[in-house]
Amino acid sequence: MINYEALYKISYGLYIVSSGDKTRGNGYISNTVFQVSSKPARFAACCNKNNFTAGLIIKSGCFAVSVLHKDTSPDIFGRFGYKSGKDFNKLEGMQIKYGETGTPIILNDSIAFLDCRVVQTFDVGTHLMFIGELVQSEIINESQEPITYLYYRQVRKGIAPVNAPTYIDRSKLEPKVQSLDLKKFKCSNCGYIYDEASEDKKFSDLPDDWICPVCGSEKIDFIEI
Ligand SMILES: Cc1cc2nc3c(=O)[nH]c(=O)nc-3n(C[C@H](O)[C@H](O)[C@H](O)COP(=O)(O)O)c2cc1C
Repeated sequence: MINYEALYKISYGLYIVSSGDKTRGNGYISNTVFQVSSKPARFAACCNKNNFTAGLIIKSGCFAVSVLHKDTSPDIFGRFGYKSGKDFNKLEGMQIKYGETGTPIILNDSIAFLDCRVVQTFDVGTHLMFIGELVQSEIINESQEPITYLYYRQVRKGIAPVNAPTYIDRSKLEPKVQSLDLKKFKCSNCGYIYDEASEDKKFSDLPDDWICPVCGSEKIDFIEI
């Protein structure tokens, strides 16, 4: 028997994994970056085969990891975690630095970065696991703490979309009891649920300029569920 709640007990951080070059770069939000060896220092990054970034990592043979902090803006999660670089240039307007490998590194809301060269690639199912050897790393901001996946879920109320390795079909989780006169509204972009049972305001009483706290989408993008 599989209890899907048990999978939430695994700890992760949250990162932007980027790749490409000066002509075309891109990045995606990832909670599956971790160090796999000390000498040489090597890191794994799991990337969905459908992510636009996967093709850029394969082509360039490099990826960078930006470590996000706890107050990372919803716009960053919205742009890098719920939209694809297939549809627009995610790096436009971002603070970018090019690492020693030539990879674009996103500095917005980041406290440190790693720049890696791919040494191995594993096909693990829905995802490719890239193993990258560390070429360069720097601290950008000492005053902020790294955000964890737990904090993202419990405090920021974010959920991982279908392309994340840790995506869990919510119908597999135990249903919670809900009062009939209180409603739930779901963000059509990131899946965040505004649950009137746990908020102090009805959804209809929120101001028109209220935005999704997870991805920055507008109130109009919410649908009642
Ligand atoms: C909290 C969170 C964690 C995620 N973790 C991963 C991950 O580890 N691997 C992955 O491939 N996608 C992950 N995703 C999904 C990608 O960020 C998302 O599919 C993105 O739009 C892909 O962008 P791209 O097509 O421009 O590469 C995650 C998204 C969120 C919001």
